[in-house]
Amino acid sequence: MRSPDKKDKQFVWHPYTQMKDWVQQSNKVISKGDGFHIIDSDGNRYLDGIASMWCNVWGHGQNEVSDAMIDQIKKLQHSTLFGLTNEPSVNLAEKLLKLAKGMDRVFYTDNGSTAIEVALKMALQYYANIGKPEKNQFISIENGYHGDTAAAMSVGYIKKYFGAYKPLLTPVFRLPSPLFNNRSKKKSKYNGKKDSIDSLDKCIEKTEYIFKRYSKRCCALVMESGAQIAGGVIIYPQSYQKRIADLCQKYEVLLILDEIATGFGRLGNMVEYIAQNSVPDLVCFGKALTAGYFPLAVTLTTNKIYESFLGEYSENKQLYHGHTFTGNPIGCATAIANIGKYQSQNLIQQIRENSKHISNRLKELESSNIIADIRHKGLLTGIELKKNGKSIEILKGGQRLNYFVMKESLKRGVFLRPLGNILMFIPPLAINKKDLDKIIDVQFKIIEMIESKV
Ligand SMILES: Cc1ncc(COP(=O)(O)O)c(C=O)c1O
Repeated sequence: MRSPDKKDKQFVWHPYTQMKDWVQQSNKVISKGDGFHIIDSDGNRYLDGIASMWCNVWGHGQNEVSDAMIDQIKKLQHSTLFGLTNEPSVNLAEKLLKLAKGMDRVFYTDNGSTAIEVALKMALQYYANIGKPEKNQFISIENGYHGDTAAAMSVGYIKKYFGAYKPLLTPVFRLPSPLFNNRSKKKSKYNGKKDSIDSLDKCIEKTEYIFKRYSKRCCALVMESGAQIAGGVIIYPQSYQKRIADLCQKYEVLLILDEIATGFGRLGNMVEYIAQNSVPDLVCFGKALTAGYFPLAVTLTTNKIYESFLGEYSENKQLYHGHTFTGNPIGCATAIANIGKYQSQNLIQQIRENSKHISNRLKELESSNIIADIRHKGLLTGIELKKNGKSIEILKGGQRLNYFVMKESLKRGVFLRPLGNILMFIPPLAINKKDLDKIIDVQFKIIEMIESKV
């Protein structure tokens, strides 16, 4: 296949991208992958420091997962779940329910945003079906992100991104985010162990106040499980998620956990809510579910919710949601093989070991004077940059931090993409130590370069 020239590259409209800048830059065309590298049309190799938007697990190339996909394509590439079922979707559901303790049913979609839409629709309709239609609003958490479809934008509202779409969105009650600085040298209320417990208590107090006032009108609270990623790599303090789950129970609000980015090992646990000791009413998985091989996502729920949708046809209690590719057999066969590989390779253990390695390496940044905070868990790392208390997003000479980081990392054989003033590395989950170290080395080198540019 011919490699696109500069003009061709302008035909594609890229997500979250200022296209005016894009067409002026010489952007890379990725044409293949090899191990944890992506390779451009000139043959340059880059380690994938953001796991292709946080979904890549095994890197690239042939393995059990790609073999399972090919086998499935030869048998049946698609058959609908409207009125029929298919073997891979049934078998995957069984496997997922074994992993996701407390869940009883699986609904399929093809991306994380729509898995969230389904969870929200299920929560709304649950209360309508049991005769409490007044419980029809949502609670979410500041800095949360749940996707780019309308209801997902409502619960994960970020003004800068979604302000223009407000007429499409619904208002939501928002709880404070548990963002406590781990690194602050000042004697602030967020500094030190005891203080951070105090701030957690305060955060929960404010949260409970909102529950007390509004929970009678709310059907569900939606939150990321374990950490908020897109909102700035905010790792939940110990017991936070459990305390929110307890409040949901106390005030009769369903808990929707979003494990699209944090489940399947990103934080060092296969199912994060089990580690957080907080069983949800609904939970969504996506991204690493198919190791990045196929667009597939799921919404799991309990029999309590599911059974409220049963009734006479004429009662109109059924769930009105479905996509052409809901339960696609290739996607489901991919996920089954992926889960098998997690188990046979003991991937979660490997992630935990690599996580310890990252913790040790992060100590090398102690003397940096532009780092306001470092937040890390599993294979998720966020490094917040500030100078004199001000967020660093523009460098000397007017260059944007994110363009600088992308350009300099690519020059050094790694692809890194920060979020505002947060440098992030989110490598493929099965990455080996050597490649992980290279990503870390390049990230640290870039921090050094930024120091001289602010
Ligand atoms: C926590 C979380 N929820 C939902 C989504 C949306 O998933 P998708 O991009 O597959 O629609 C994302 C995507 O980054 C996410 O991080």
